[in-house]
Amino acid sequence: KDAELQQIRDSLDLAAKLYHHVLMNTPFGEVGRRYLEKRNIMKETVYEFQIGYAPDSFQFLLPFMKKRGFTEEILEKAGLISIKEETGRAFDRFRHRLMIPIHDAQGRIIGFGGRLIDGDGPKYLNSPETRLFQKRLHLFNLHRARSPIRKEQQVVLFEGSIDVISAWQAGIKTVVATLGTALTDHQASLIKRNTQNVVLCYDSDNAGQSASVKGLEILREQDCTVKIAQMPIGLDPDDYIRRHGGDLFKEEIIAGALPSVAFTLESLKRNFNLKDEDARMKYLSQAVGVIADLPKPIEQEHYLQKLSNEFGLSLEALKEECRRERKKKR
Ligand code: CTP
Ligand code: MN
Ligand code: MN
Ligand code: MN
Ligand code: MN
Repeated sequence: KDAELQQIRDSLDLAAKLYHHVLMNTPFGEVGRRYLEKRNIMKETVYEFQIGYAPDSFQFLLPFMKKRGFTEEILEKAGLISIKEETGRAFDRFRHRLMIPIHDAQGRIIGFGGRLIDGDGPKYLNSPETRLFQKRLHLFNLHRARSPIRKEQQVVLFEGSIDVISAWQAGIKTVVATLGTALTDHQASLIKRNTQNVVLCYDSDNAGQSASVKGLEILREQDCTVKIAQMPIGLDPDDYIRRHGGDLFKEEIIAGALPSVAFTLESLKRNFNLKDEDARMKYLSQAVGVIADLPKPIEQEHYLQKLSNEFGLSLEALKEECRRERKKKR
């Protein structure tokens, strides 16, 4: 049975080589090369990430792999081809896509992320779940980023593989991404094995913000210290780095990331119209509730002090409120 697993691995390795070769050295790859140029991804980066191109054909990878002795059964189990149920006809899963290999923590290829170059279809298509590829168990780029993460004792977590590639190219090496899903407990534990300091850097859209809230919870359960980067509206990390460069990304976005309490209070605040007195009181009591949950007294005092300055209330009153909140929660 584990001859099968080995064959799946071999087919993924060979497919990655073929896609990369097509991108770099063939006329088919021209459209992919132009796309990468447009996105400012340099040759060395393409090489380092072994990025490839899957041509716009249903029968490109399949015949090549068959000639190399791989069966349709193996190729389907590797997630490289699909088989139409009605006709039994097999065809390439990835077409006209930039192919980004995804590795496990040991650096072995387990699947691909495919970015559509243009035309109809989903913008991103990943490998399906296979024996090797289970999205919830892996983080994109962890095998490359692990030692920088350990050295710098920090990890920056992105939504997208392109965000990772872009940051890496700009010299920021402590970067990983989830694979198009919400952060899972398992992924959080992978992070925790390397560092407890996490900067969440999701897109500034609504999806990204609610992913931050959920990610924050999961990471705190692992006792990680989490900060949340604030991306300018409309830009994702890749856009930002392309526009402003990696240095500014480091200095402004990563270094300026909000501690999780500040982030939680900020996003809570957005639910209230603070000009209205009743709403202001409601916000304050919920904010104090958040602060009452903090494990360390100095942390509590720090944030109560900030509220006190911000709203012109006495620190004593806020502390009393906080004590009551804590009692309520027991
Ligand atoms: N993603 C995925 N599967 C999907 C959708 C998204 O795996 N069905 C992942 C991809 O890795 C993608 C990331 O989630 O890079 C973020 O998605 P999104 O923000 O929508 O990507 P964009 O930034 O819009 O993509 P691009 O920059 O390539 O235009
Ligand atoms: Mn998008
Ligand atoms: Mn997004
Ligand atoms: Mn993007
Ligand atoms: Mn994005």
